[in-house]
Amino acid sequence: MDSIETKGGLSRRDVLKATGTVAAASALAGVVLPRHVYAGETNTVQIALVGAGGRGSGAAENALSTKLGPVKLSAMADVFPEKLKGTYDSLKGRFNELVDVPEERKFIGFDAYKSAMDSLKKGDVVILTTPPAFRWVQFKYAIERGLNVFMEKPVTVDGPSTRKMLELYEESVKKNLKVGVGLMCRHCEARGELFKRIKDGQLGELNLLRAYRVSGPTGSAFVNKRQGDLSELMYQIRNFHGFLWASGGGFSDFLIHNIDECCWMKDAWPVEAKGYGGRHYRGDYVDQNFDSYTVEYTFADGAKLMLEGRGMINCNNEFASYCHGSKGSAVISQSGHAPSKARIFKAQKMTEDEVVWRCNTPEPNPYQLEWDHLMHAIRQDKPYNEVKRGAEASLVTSMGRMACHTGRIVTFDEMLNCEHEFAPTVDKLTFDGPAPVLADANGKYPVPAPGIKTTREY
Ligand SMILES: NC(=O)c1ccc[n+]([C@@H]2O[C@H](COP(=O)([O-])OP(=O)(O)OC[C@H]3O[C@@H](n4cnc5c(N)ncnc54)[C@H](O)[C@@H]3O)[C@@H](O)[C@H]2O)c1
Repeated sequence: MDSIETKGGLSRRDVLKATGTVAAASALAGVVLPRHVYAGETNTVQIALVGAGGRGSGAAENALSTKLGPVKLSAMADVFPEKLKGTYDSLKGRFNELVDVPEERKFIGFDAYKSAMDSLKKGDVVILTTPPAFRWVQFKYAIERGLNVFMEKPVTVDGPSTRKMLELYEESVKKNLKVGVGLMCRHCEARGELFKRIKDGQLGELNLLRAYRVSGPTGSAFVNKRQGDLSELMYQIRNFHGFLWASGGGFSDFLIHNIDECCWMKDAWPVEAKGYGGRHYRGDYVDQNFDSYTVEYTFADGAKLMLEGRGMINCNNEFASYCHGSKGSAVISQSGHAPSKARIFKAQKMTEDEVVWRCNTPEPNPYQLEWDHLMHAIRQDKPYNEVKRGAEASLVTSMGRMACHTGRIVTFDEMLNCEHEFAPTVDKLTFDGPAPVLADANGKYPVPAPGIKTTREY
């Protein structure tokens, strides 16, 4: 896989070394700091948060918890004032003077991201944690402003947005911007050790990978009919997991991590996918999601990745990824993203008495590690750009989703070149303008129909 641009395997020792460098330099009061140890004209890296919801709050917390030099949250943007206020109050309560966002640097609206970024200096960092549909729009502006970026996954939702993101990636590399993508499992030390062992041949040939995220309804993937005062567009944004244009649906938003960690272990992207799924118990829900998905991904060497996703109550629950080789098998992750509980078994039976290696515990938090690595690269001016890998992981995820939604085999190249752009006007949305997808007279949105709608997902 030639798309890995970062050294995700940066060790804690490297980070501590960098911390030491900054601390030692700061101790030399009056001495000019070498250019490479900090980002802007002052030693403080300022952060703007665009999309102040659950993950935005978490990412800001991780940014403010890095120990590589001074950081400050200095601007925030959202489309819902109450979301911005809630996240501001909570971060201010926990980080006090590290949160310096006066009223004039709190911005509301579809252009708020521009004002937040305009308040930063070149080399500062903007966090992009809105629904994924807005990622390319906001990344484009961040590149124009010369800003480093942390953006959440998925970074694209369809073929056209992936092509845009890959072009933007080239521009951001040319400008030497540091860009982290929130596929934090790639920064997990335990998974990194497992990957090295697989590369060293401990599992032999990797023939089969399996990934499961089956649980009750998750996030906003099950959406009730619009009621109340919210406009059509704002209702869709609030319930973004229910609308394919906004998030790629529950499939893309929830399954990408497990797909990506399996592809990491295989060190390749699959070349095609076939898939199945349906809307079994939808009751009055009106969103565009299926409630179960199964995908068979095929790699160029014929190896398979089997993926299962389901949102149903009272069924078996599992949130895990596994791989099987000719000489043994392994848990990549079990019971969620972190800790991974990674371990290797001597054959295919995954029982405790068969374990031949298990990762060190306690495992450091990968959400914090991804920020330590990004900040290290910024302060040391090291090449660091995860966008290509993030866009490819998003595309491979869309490929599986489209296979399920159309009932056809979908190849990587076909997905990349697919012309169906879910939200061609996403960079021009306004509070009172139309939404990218509309409901019918019964308040229901177009849903995929495998075998009937075969060239577009809806
Ligand atoms: N890496 C992970 O484990 C992880 C976990 C959770 C979420 N995420 C990702 O983070 C992103 C956000 O998810 P979330 O759970 O925080 O959702 P959320 O709804 O809690 O937060 C999204 C925020 O963005 C705001 N927003 C929407 N459109 C906007 C726009 N155009 N401009 C400015 N603000 C806008 C919303 O009002 C909301 O406050 C998603 O891409 C999701 O996949 C990643």
